[in-house]
Amino acid sequence: MMPKIVVTRVLPDEVILELSEKARVEVHADPLPPSREALLDLVRDADGIISLLTDRIDREMLDAAPKLRVVSNYAVGVDNVDVAEATRRRIAVTNTPDVLTESTADLAFALALAAARRLVEAEKFARRGAFQGWHPLLFLGHDVFGKTLGVVGLGRIGKAVARRGALGFGMRVLYAQPRRDEAFERDVPCARVGLDVLLRESDVVSLHVPLTPATRHLIGESELRSMKKTSVLVNTSRGPVIDEASLVRALEERWIFAAGLDVFEREPEIPEVLRQRPDVVILPHIGSATIETRTRMARMAAENALAVLGGRRPPSIVNPEVL
Ligand code: DGY
Repeated sequence: MMPKIVVTRVLPDEVILELSEKARVEVHADPLPPSREALLDLVRDADGIISLLTDRIDREMLDAAPKLRVVSNYAVGVDNVDVAEATRRRIAVTNTPDVLTESTADLAFALALAAARRLVEAEKFARRGAFQGWHPLLFLGHDVFGKTLGVVGLGRIGKAVARRGALGFGMRVLYAQPRRDEAFERDVPCARVGLDVLLRESDVVSLHVPLTPATRHLIGESELRSMKKTSVLVNTSRGPVIDEASLVRALEERWIFAAGLDVFEREPEIPEVLRQRPDVVILPHIGSATIETRTRMARMAAENALAVLGGRRPPSIVNPEVL
C-alpha cells in the first residue's frame, strides 16, 4: 500500500499532484492552521507529515503518530519540531534551506531601507493626501548606503544579507557568530567581531540566527541600550530572538531609531503597542513569500518526504543520523 502523507496546509497543485502519484495524500485545506486536536487526529495513521512552522510537532504529536517516518518541515527553521525526540524515535526531520535564502535576504534589506528611510510612514502620509509640497524636513531618516551593517548569524541568509550590504550598498560589514569564516571574508569584505562590538558600531543590525535556547532573547534590554540611537534593528529570523518588551521600551525611549520586523515573539499576535508605532515596520512573516520561492520550498518539502519514505537520502535532512 502507498504511504500516507499529511500536508498541513494547501501547497501548489503541481506539488500535490506529484505527491499523489507516490503517496496517499491528505491535505488540511483550510486557510487557518489546523487546531491542535485536528492535527493530532490527522497524523494518527500518517507515514509522513509536511508541516509548517505553525504546527508544533512535539512528543505528544509524535505519540499520536506511531507510523511516522518523516517530518518534512516546509521552512528552513525547525524550532517548531522536537528534533531530539524525533531522532530518538528514528524519525527523519527535513527542512527547506537554500531555496529561500535570496528572497529572505531581499526582505531583510527591504525592512532595513523601509525603517531607516521611514517609507511606511511617508507612504501613508502621501496616500491620505497630506502631501502639500516638498519640504526640507519632511520624513528625514538615515542613510543606509556606506554605513555599517551588523549581521548576527552568518549562515546562508546572513551571508546573502552581508553580500548585499558590502557589494550593493558599500557598507562596512561586521558579523557575529561563534566561528570566523575566512573563506567568506575573502569573497565579501567583512569582519568578525563580538556581539557587543557589533551592536555598538552598527547602523543596521540584522538578525539571522535560528531560534534555540541560546538565542532566545539574545537581544534584550542591555543589548538594545548598547546600540546607536540612530540605528535600525531588523528581524527576519524568529520573533523570540528579541525580547519584545525591551524593544518596545527601546523605541519609546529612543535608544534606537527604528525597527523592521517580519517575525514576532508570540506569533501571530503582534502587540498593539508595536502596531501603533510609526517607527516600526511590521510585516506578517513573509520573508520567503515569493511565488518562485514558495514553489521551490513546496517541491523540496515534497521531495524530502518522498525520499525518506522511498528509502533514499532526502535533499535536506536535519538529523542525518537516523538514516
Ligand atoms: C523559514 O523557512 O523558517 C521561514 O521562516 C519561512 O519561510
